[in-house]
Amino acid sequence: MRKKIVAGNWKMNKTAEEAVALTSEIVHMIADEVTSDVEVVLCVPSLYLSTLQQYATGRVSIGAQNIHQKASGAYTGEISAPMVKSLNIPYVILGHSERRQYFGETDEILAEKVNIALENGLKPIFCCGESLEQRQNEDYIALVQAQLTNALFHLSAEQFGQLVIAYEPIWAIGTGLTASAQQAQDMHAALRSHIASKYGAEVADNTTIQYGGSVSAANAAELFSSPDVDGGLVGGASLKSRDFVNIVKAI
Ligand code: G3P
Repeated sequence: MRKKIVAGNWKMNKTAEEAVALTSEIVHMIADEVTSDVEVVLCVPSLYLSTLQQYATGRVSIGAQNIHQKASGAYTGEISAPMVKSLNIPYVILGHSERRQYFGETDEILAEKVNIALENGLKPIFCCGESLEQRQNEDYIALVQAQLTNALFHLSAEQFGQLVIAYEPIWAIGTGLTASAQQAQDMHAALRSHIASKYGAEVADNTTIQYGGSVSAANAAELFSSPDVDGGLVGGASLKSRDFVNIVKAI
């Protein structure tokens, strides 16, 4: 049975004091209110990984938002997989569309990042998704499937089993324009089928596929009701404890 995972991607937000307060609120609210077996991951700015790891409980864990593809070296400002591992941080987001767009991350670079994350025992939350133009003008399903092929399909079945996949249509990120439950289901089913074509039905059925892109307390229950939607990767709504916990409770 695949895991249900709801992750918050805080992106570049919150001061140190705000980050501690938000984490503490979320952890306490989830302990008091959540009865399902959903896993919760808070992917926070790397500056706060060490401090916030102290708040990790059985259900709530901390994640990084990126790592460099090298283990160490002259890469000013970057953080590495060994650094994240040394803090016992389990998850790391890789391939977010904002990193592809603003930092030039290609499928090839992401394959290297996935490799070094797995080598260091981290669990990648691997992001994929199409732009509005691609959805309107191309075979966008094949395009998103190719993002998996190019960055992940060199992995063994055992390695692939460590991944979480996050489908984030770029046109829904930060726009308030959420994919419909049917649109999310259609892509998730296509991704799961693509995974099965490479690794077989068991690996595909056990892969958690999250939806991301303007997930809110209002739309989460409908999105999560789809059979191939196994949780969410939540941006803006993860910055408010009440909204985020309501999303977690919707699964
Ligand atoms: O990684 C999650 C993020 O891209 C979604 O952002 O604000 O649309 O929930 P948002």
